[in-house]
Amino acid sequence: MAGRNHLFIPGPTNTPHEILSAMHVPMEDHRSPTFPTLFKPILEDLKKVFRTETGQAFVFPATGTAGWEVALTNTLNPGDKVLIYRFGQFSHLWMNMAQRLGLDVEFHEVEWGKGIPLDVLEARLKEDNSHEIKAVLATHNETATGVTSDIGGVRKAMDAANHPALLFVDGVSSIASLEFRMEDWGVDGAISGSQKGFMLPAGLAILAFSQKALKATETASFPRCFLDLKDQMNANKDGYTPYTPPTPLLHGLRKALDMLLEEGMDNVYARHARLAEGTRKAIAAWGLSLCAEAGFESDTVSAVVVPADKDARDVISTAFHKYDISLGAGLTEVAGKVFRIGHIGDMNDVSMLGAIAGVEMALLDNGYDIQPGAGVGAAIEHYRTTA
Ligand SMILES: Cc1ncc(COP(=O)(O)O)c(C=O)c1O
Repeated sequence: MAGRNHLFIPGPTNTPHEILSAMHVPMEDHRSPTFPTLFKPILEDLKKVFRTETGQAFVFPATGTAGWEVALTNTLNPGDKVLIYRFGQFSHLWMNMAQRLGLDVEFHEVEWGKGIPLDVLEARLKEDNSHEIKAVLATHNETATGVTSDIGGVRKAMDAANHPALLFVDGVSSIASLEFRMEDWGVDGAISGSQKGFMLPAGLAILAFSQKALKATETASFPRCFLDLKDQMNANKDGYTPYTPPTPLLHGLRKALDMLLEEGMDNVYARHARLAEGTRKAIAAWGLSLCAEAGFESDTVSAVVVPADKDARDVISTAFHKYDISLGAGLTEVAGKVFRIGHIGDMNDVSMLGAIAGVEMALLDNGYDIQPGAGVGAAIEHYRTTA
């Protein structure tokens, strides 16, 4: 097929040319005297994306899943109680990891489409007078349902309960695209990955820890080796890594940081919000609704619910085979019920309109009752008038 495949999934996202070129470098000696001049500023600049001054950033040659494990095993002890709300496939997987690691996991089911219930959280923490709960695990942006939770609100609930638990946040599909304020929100461990807002291939788990979380690493008794933060800290202080780093990815990360910081994080958030709003206007014009309830809509991914007599997989299949665009599938409990449009990373008005036009054609082909141009028209008007 002529032309290229258009990637509109919520990660991996499109990698800009500048980053692809930056990664096209010969292999190099990661123990050379010059390697720290690449790596040290990366760790410093990451703090500007996580928005922390007192925290410390880390980069592991791994993925977001490993980031979850870094947070849990470096700060907690086997059998410690952790609290998590399960409302999508990624909060489910984090909960499942905590169980498999031997933590005492208190999980509460929340309807898929909603986010962290702040009142319920506050009440539960107030009940926990003996402070048995050692960590709250919060999925900031549930990529499976397109739901964004209020992490500042989670911090407020914890403070209102005067609860000392650590706050760990999965920001895999939010950090570097949605507003994220580690310092202001009192986040103790923030976890991301390279293949979403950072616009890189998968392969880096990117994290930041607060001083409180770093202190907890001194007593954490989980056996750990490859994912031990102490080894990172020892090597990182001189600008090195404890094992061979994927140097091309680090050059890509350098370029990604340059691009994000040049645009300005507030502008990055605003761009994502605007692109997402245009997409939502198109979805409404198609007569379809979001999986996310009002107030929880994600600005990085829209999970679109199809009518009960339709299968979302047909839309995804038509989009891929006929129009060469990739959409996100519904995962586990929402398989066949939703398709997902990613509006994250290196996207602008016209690339977003490509996604919307492709989805609209696939919907029409699958017998959806839509006036051709309805969604595209709604999005065009939004982008034109807010540009
Ligand atoms: C919110 C969220 N958390 C965690 C993960 C897992 O990250 P990875 O696939 O990089 O291990 C993903 C992946 O899509 C995600 O969207």
